[in-house]
Amino acid sequence: MTEVIDTAVTGWLARFERFDVVGSTNDVVAGWLREGTKEVCVAISDVQTSGRGRGDRTWEAPPGAALLLSIGFRPKWLDPEHAWRLAAIVTLTMAEACEIAAGLHAGRVQLKWPNDLVAIDSRSGEVRKLAGVLGETDGLGTKQARAVIGIGVNADWKPEDFPPELATSMTSLAELAPGQLIDREVIVHVFLEKLQKAVTKLRNGQFPADAWRARQLTNGVPVRLEWPDGRAETVSAMDVDTNSGALIVGELGGGGQQRTVLAGEIRHLRLGGIV
Ligand code: BTN
Repeated sequence: MTEVIDTAVTGWLARFERFDVVGSTNDVVAGWLREGTKEVCVAISDVQTSGRGRGDRTWEAPPGAALLLSIGFRPKWLDPEHAWRLAAIVTLTMAEACEIAAGLHAGRVQLKWPNDLVAIDSRSGEVRKLAGVLGETDGLGTKQARAVIGIGVNADWKPEDFPPELATSMTSLAELAPGQLIDREVIVHVFLEKLQKAVTKLRNGQFPADAWRARQLTNGVPVRLEWPDGRAETVSAMDVDTNSGALIVGELGGGGQQRTVLAGEIRHLRLGGIV
């Protein structure tokens, strides 16, 4: 990796450390916050031995292939009902950083509620996951509020190197921008530069609602929604609520009442079709 991250983009951080191997960068940053490290702090690792995804999933990536980082906040300045916006600004900022670093057009990287970065495969038209976000919070609404937002981006991960079980659901910047040098340092540089501005704005009560909403792939699309208790249902994803962060869903084919969904996972979606 080329060392392009300079203090101009890390100077605003209370702590910035990179590692060759850790268990999970989320755990590293959670430990820092417990010990008293101030916000905003960032840990990056080339490899994780026990990387975690949402819903008890593991998150694995070969050395050199992914950007694995976690960001620690002390969001006592943020209304607990808006804590979801920390993950949202991280997700949005990373989408922009990925496009710039890989030379992709603006909007190529989209968002899948709640916090996945996705892109549409140009051959099959299917939705593929580029990055996942794991947000973990503690003590929200108190002076000890802590939040760790971890993100794993499939960066220089060649499509032929994906394990077979991931090949049809995942993508990477290497796949989206063939022939382009994918340098994780450049992604981090652009990301931190933009994140500083986004955090300053959020501290001032400004959330980029339009940009977050505009990138949502699910608007107007039928989705298979899995609830935290394991139940699943097929609904029409109508919109996202930029105040609560909820997914707004309705019955397939219209009619019925719209509902807001605060927790759940979209397992399948098919653009322009039935899931
Ligand atoms: C998901 O899509 O299920 C979320 C994946 C989050 C993975 C990242 S990689 C960096 C950070 N450390 C972890 O253990 N998990 C997150």
